[in-house]
Amino acid sequence: MKTVSRFLTPPETGTVVEFQYEGETVTSPAGVSLAAALLAHSGAYTRQTAKGDARTAFCMMGVCFECLVEVDGNPNTQACMCPVRDGMIVSRQMGLRRLTGCNDV
Ligand code: FES
Repeated sequence: MKTVSRFLTPPETGTVVEFQYEGETVTSPAGVSLAAALLAHSGAYTRQTAKGDARTAFCMMGVCFECLVEVDGNPNTQACMCPVRDGMIVSRQMGLRRLTGCNDV
């Protein structure tokens, strides 16, 4: 039986945005969450715990906090709760950080 990846995305038919992730330019459909865009991009880990364990988005609904990334210099941003936007600069979160939200500047 053939298994289809759960990270496949529908064909892009509308507006797309570009953002930076770990120095790479990522193109994503507008309106999707940052977590969905990162999973579609590579599916690789997006943060490390304080003990160095690799983590990435899991629940996709703001509950598990496994999707924390740094957005435009703001750590502890829940990627599943943050829509992608043009020009955002995203990086992996390494270890513990101070708690903020995706709209905190
Ligand atoms: S994926 Fe669970 S809080 Fe973001």
